[in-house]
Amino acid sequence: MEITNVSEYEAIAKQKLPKMVYDYYASGAEDQWSLRENRAAFSRILFRPHVLVDVSKIDMTTTVLGYNISMPIMIAPTAMLKMAHPEGEYAVARAASASGTIMTLSSVSTSSVEEVASTGPGIRFFQLYVFKDRNIVAQLVKIAERAGFMAIVVTVDTPRLGRREADIKNRFTLSPYLTLKNFVGLDLGKIDKTNDSGIASYIADQIDRCLTWKDIKWLQTITSLPIFLKGVMTAEDTWLAIQAGVAGIIVSNHGARQLDYVPATINCLEEVVKAAQGRVPVFLDGGVRRGTDVFKALALGASGVFIGRPVVFSLAAEGEAGVKRVLQMLRDEFEITMALSGCTSLKEITRNHVLTEVDLYH
Ligand code: FNR
Repeated sequence: MEITNVSEYEAIAKQKLPKMVYDYYASGAEDQWSLRENRAAFSRILFRPHVLVDVSKIDMTTTVLGYNISMPIMIAPTAMLKMAHPEGEYAVARAASASGTIMTLSSVSTSSVEEVASTGPGIRFFQLYVFKDRNIVAQLVKIAERAGFMAIVVTVDTPRLGRREADIKNRFTLSPYLTLKNFVGLDLGKIDKTNDSGIASYIADQIDRCLTWKDIKWLQTITSLPIFLKGVMTAEDTWLAIQAGVAGIIVSNHGARQLDYVPATINCLEEVVKAAQGRVPVFLDGGVRRGTDVFKALALGASGVFIGRPVVFSLAAEGEAGVKRVLQMLRDEFEITMALSGCTSLKEITRNHVLTEVDLYH
């Protein structure tokens, strides 16, 4: 049967993947309240469409950091994609380029930065976990720079890994046939690199719990690439991020895999947008599954959105073609949403086009 929306790929992925792998991709933290809420909150936002607008031509193009992209829908970093499909990160990189959008490569990837770069031209960001050993961080950043990545996306919501209970029950580990490729050629000091699970557990242990704002300043001294912070949820942190000189903010709760009972990201967006006062672009990820979700995020002030699980599940189901199809379906849905709302370009999407619970009940 023909797939008609992005969410349908999850069931196909569930059938295809080993339970341990599917659970790793699908899970949220603890009670998974925020996981459900990331979706539910979108469904409580309604439209105020404007009629009798000539919508025969719709322009979805935009720029991020000055780079032109075909639509405000980009790919979030997700770890270890060769567990989903043998082509893993290559397939995602090719699908993103073919769709004219940006891929963010996880630092915890099963293909290296250089391997992803060698798939061909494309606008790519590198996601960074800041490790205790700053020498590793500096090496990773240099590699990303040299491979032509355009920005560093620092994930700031992960001083420790959230408790994903399915992973605990399944005793989740990376398959011995796969490797966290970005770490292979690095000088890691004294660790046993003879087996890959050695590297994987070493890396998990290495995420720095001491990371603070001064480290964001330090990062700026070791790279000329623009830095986005991923995982900001409040106005207070937005002010600090701007003081620290970042180039952009991604409102994210890590796909609800870190702190449970944080609000849905779409419910934090306006607070962050207001605090940013247009000084840096604000993006959103978490629960985006429909073109209508993309429109809602833009109406509430986002400059664009990123998608995580839809990429992973479509990759598992159909490889590169699946990821392309997900991007195409979201694009088509977003275009129709714009047309039916009376908007012909992204700048015409305004706060007036949506009703949130605050508008309805206060
Ligand atoms: C993630 N995410 C993530 N984020 C990050 O900064 N580095 C990473 O390595 C990963 N890995 C990862 C693996 C898997 C399986 C998932 C589902 C998520 C978080 C990701 O970038 C993004 O914030 C969320 O996935 C967005 O939510 P949706 O689109 O999955 O609902």
